[in-house]
Amino acid sequence: MQDLGVKPDSSTFVSLLSACAQVGAIGLGCWVHEYIARNCFDLNVVLGTALMNMYSRCGNVSKAREVFDSVEEKNIVAWTAMISGYGMHGHGSQAIELFNEMSFDGPRPNNVTFVAILSACAHAGLVDEGRQIFTTMKQEYGLVPSVEHQVCMVDMLGRAGHLNEAYQFVKNISPKEPAPAVWTAMLGACKMHKHFDLGVEVAEHLLSIEPENPGHYVMLSNIYALAGRMDRVEKVRNIMIRNRLKKEVGYSTIDVDHKVYLFSMGDKSHPKTNQIYLYLDELMSRCREAGYIPASESVMHEVEEEEREYALRYHSEKLAIAFGLLKTGPGVAIRIVKNLRMCEDCHTAIKYISIIANREINVRDRLRFHHFKDGSCSCQDYW
Ligand SMILES: *[C@@H]1O[C@H](CO)[C@@H](O)[C@H](O)[C@H]1NC(C)=O
Ligand SMILES: *[C@@H]1O[C@H](CO)[C@@H](O)[C@H](O)[C@H]1NC(C)=O
Ligand SMILES: [Zn+2]
Repeated sequence: MQDLGVKPDSSTFVSLLSACAQVGAIGLGCWVHEYIARNCFDLNVVLGTALMNMYSRCGNVSKAREVFDSVEEKNIVAWTAMISGYGMHGHGSQAIELFNEMSFDGPRPNNVTFVAILSACAHAGLVDEGRQIFTTMKQEYGLVPSVEHQVCMVDMLGRAGHLNEAYQFVKNISPKEPAPAVWTAMLGACKMHKHFDLGVEVAEHLLSIEPENPGHYVMLSNIYALAGRMDRVEKVRNIMIRNRLKKEVGYSTIDVDHKVYLFSMGDKSHPKTNQIYLYLDELMSRCREAGYIPASESVMHEVEEEEREYALRYHSEKLAIAFGLLKTGPGVAIRIVKNLRMCEDCHTAIKYISIIANREINVRDRLRFHHFKDGSCSCQDYW
């Protein structure tokens, strides 16, 4: 575009920033920001919000806040984006603080704002605050909860271990049948807190209302495995094979020196493949020495969003991290974007890797951010 002399405008930058945000290309995103500043483009609220989204989705929420503060005419989309950014990073109290500020002298929060704040409460375990906000939403703002709000509430109550309350909440949804997403959140809570009997009940119900969704089969076979009903696991798998139901393929991207590299599970397409695999194997054996136990050995038959079997140690995020460690010098933070939810094994392994390689590792998965440092994760294993 530049070669042809076509002048970019604000919508060009919005598109560029959205592309950067999707794959976590913070290097390019910063370049766009500098370009905007250097060429004296007006930082209107639309462009500002695109920048904020790019920064928070690429892992730098404080930079997003800087942009937010510099936007003069903040509209509801900008406020909501900032609250959502805090939520994604598990900064629940900052999200609430901003939400209060907004209620006080910002635009009137709408239904989308409430999704952002409730989700922030869920990710940070702020149950009392979340309950109160939900009530406020209905009573003071007169908003009718949509599926998204219901999911946030079930997720929040469920994660925090209030399973009965969560289940009651689901059953009280009327007059329509609760949406599959609500049941899925309920199932996640059952899994997390090892209430397998209720989990099986929920998963079977979920499958009966959406029999063509491959994700539900995976969840059902998971919960059977966890409940120790191996015969049923086999059965579900066979149905999947018979119906040719395919799971989504997992991949991770990493931004190194302004270039984005993509890895899929067991990927061998990279020119430095051998080096990456050797290094990853070495890394994993050092993790084991430090106390890491691969999940395949403890939970043999569980099926995650990605296949377990052989592939566990070569999940895309592990490959991307090995590559990142090889390609960057000491002290450089590693940033990964993963299209699916991170599996528990990767989550544990990366904690060890952050110690052994002495690096900060940031992973954005389908749901949220994980900042790994010195052997722990910012989510406090709360995801
Ligand atoms: C975010 O950006 C700020 C300002 O550019 C920088 O000082 C900080 O180190 C960055 N934080 C992360 C986590 O990258
Ligand atoms: C918010 O309300 C609008 C208009 O009523 C509706 O179209 C939209 O789906 C709602 N979004 C959420 C997240 O509830
Ligand atoms: Zn985490």
